[in-house]
Amino acid sequence: MTNAQPGILAPTPKLARYLTFSLKAGAQPQSALSQLVALADGDVLVVGIGQPTVVALNRRIDGLRNFPTNFGAGLVLPSTSAALWCWLRGADRGDLLHLTRKVINAVASAFTTDPIIDAFEHAGGRDLSGYVDGTENPQGAKAIAAGIIGDQGDGLDGGSLVAVQQWVHDFARFEAMPSEEQDNSVGRRKSDNKELTDSPPSSHVKRTAQESFSPEAFILRRSMPWSDGTRGGLNFVAFGKSFDAFEAQLKRMVGAEDGITDALFKFTTPISGSYFWCPPMISGKLDLRTLGL
Ligand code: HEM
Repeated sequence: MTNAQPGILAPTPKLARYLTFSLKAGAQPQSALSQLVALADGDVLVVGIGQPTVVALNRRIDGLRNFPTNFGAGLVLPSTSAALWCWLRGADRGDLLHLTRKVINAVASAFTTDPIIDAFEHAGGRDLSGYVDGTENPQGAKAIAAGIIGDQGDGLDGGSLVAVQQWVHDFARFEAMPSEEQDNSVGRRKSDNKELTDSPPSSHVKRTAQESFSPEAFILRRSMPWSDGTRGGLNFVAFGKSFDAFEAQLKRMVGAEDGITDALFKFTTPISGSYFWCPPMISGKLDLRTLGL
């Protein structure tokens, strides 16, 4: 049993919307957050709170920090600090639209809405590149151990720290790659999802193999494909009990350890990077005691 927001541990939905908010200059977020608590069930609506909001409330959440831009070497990635994150999960675009409007109205006194990301399940759980995503995700008790805080006391236990990055795929570049090069970039075969033992060290699954880190770096991925007109990619979402495992993987992906960058960068690029704290639940509502609410 865990008092985590249930949407974090559930399978990804058919459809989703990601709303990201900035804090209005000088705004006090208490009343907006109380209105959001009235809407958020942690399942259809998963909520993450960013550092600017925590700072405005004069509080601190252990482990919450700014998204890293670089690790001293390797590629430099965007860090886009945001104050509030809402993951709307469903199966009907109309329902998601109406919930979007309710959420925006609830928090409008303190927050402005950044561009909305529309996401969806593709081909039974594949990234838009065609590769199955999520195969090596921890399950059951291991998912909770990787993704949910459990040793910090009331108000924090059951919470989670989430890393979010919007990646944009260059489909023309990807389609121009021979299928063997595509498979070697991911480290799995697209046709049957088999892991390739002889893929190069730049392959994505060699870079991120969770058991190859010391300590082991398990994260709970809940990424979803997104699109907007003809653009699309992956909204990468990883829940952790801390950001350490995620950062260990990203550090390898950008080549900070050995100068080898993840082959995924040949066809996809992140355009955002943010960290949020997802509060635990208490009696079916978000538990914001740690923020003094
Ligand atoms: C557009 C960006 C990305 C795409 C398309 C992508 C796609 C994939 C695919 C297809 C797999 C293999 C199947 C699976 O186990 O899920 C995978 C594995 C994995 N990815 Fe990604 N990924 C992306 C970004 C990231 C990032 C930013 C991280 C972490 C910093 C990450 C961490 C992982 C991990 C931990 C695994 C499992 C490795 C293992 O233990 O075998 N991915 N990804």
